[in-house]
Amino acid sequence: MKVGVLSGGGDAPGINAVIRAIVRKGIQNYGYEIVGIRDGWGGLLHGEFVPLDLKTASGILNRGGSILGTSRTNPFKTKKGPEQIVKNARKEALEAIVVIGGDDTLSVAQKMHDYGLKCVGVPKTIDNDLAGTDYTFGFNTAVSIATEAIDRLHTTAETHHRVIILEVMGRYTGWIALEAGLAGGADVILIPEKPFDIDEVCKIIKRRQTRGRNFSIIVVAEGAKPKGGVEIVYSESLDEFGHIRLGGVGYYLGKEIERCINFETRVVVLGHLQRGGAPTAFDRMLATRFGVAAIDLVHQGKFGQMVALKGNKITSLPLEEIVGKRKTVDLELYDIASVFFG
Ligand code: F6P
Repeated sequence: MKVGVLSGGGDAPGINAVIRAIVRKGIQNYGYEIVGIRDGWGGLLHGEFVPLDLKTASGILNRGGSILGTSRTNPFKTKKGPEQIVKNARKEALEAIVVIGGDDTLSVAQKMHDYGLKCVGVPKTIDNDLAGTDYTFGFNTAVSIATEAIDRLHTTAETHHRVIILEVMGRYTGWIALEAGLAGGADVILIPEKPFDIDEVCKIIKRRQTRGRNFSIIVVAEGAKPKGGVEIVYSESLDEFGHIRLGGVGYYLGKEIERCINFETRVVVLGHLQRGGAPTAFDRMLATRFGVAAIDLVHQGKFGQMVALKGNKITSLPLEEIVGKRKTVDLELYDIASVFFG
């Protein structure tokens, strides 16, 4: 059997660990031929393939990015795109495709099911906002990097008596902001799920001052917005899945804080540092377990499914149950974090 593998959407540390696991178990245990598809759905649309064997999949467990590349190509935006994909898959004799992606990439996998393409999904996003799984791989690495950034910002903020704002990724959900903010002891955490009131934020900083704390660390997710307002947008142009490019809420906040309490403020946008580089041990483990489970699903003929983590067990569920849904932050966890605000 010939199995294709693709990674789509934003990269996340651990993609290569998934690919390695698929190749190792697929070839060694099942005698499959594994073929890499370049740059997400774009590669299947244009017929760009690369053979994957034990040698090419060796030494990549700890490597960030994706050896296959990625893209945000939506084949449903191309005339006869889905038909072309089926044609190319047939030409390459691919009997199954393992699709590593977030909601956009997996929603294509789900729709392609109706065109007869046999897909299995692997949940990937540093944002951790995919429904159906407790964690996506890549998230733990992003949280570790953001936590380290908070630790470093603490010492300089304290020394200079400043407010430092750390803007992290999280387009629709504040998982990274919340977990890194909690782990790093942030004084305020702002997330998309809870629109913020700038006066409240200023009050917290002032309260700290009255307690002799002349500095504050604010962690804000890029998708956080003021009450009654909208997200701060970096660029109006939309990608093929209709997403706008966010960015700049940190600078917005910085200006507002300097205006309302005249506290010297600095802004750090962590950006793609959260996505690049080596995965943590947790993400290597999770990605490896997902990869093995995905090729097992292929072997069992369970298509249209996504592998998932539930508690500490790897399980699977139908793609149609998860696409288009979003896992927002655990508000109980936010309440715990807010004990330490101010
Ligand atoms: O992968 C999701 C994400 O990390 C979002 O949090 C962020 O808005 C987006 O990717 C940015 O991705 P890119 O710069 O690749 O468009």
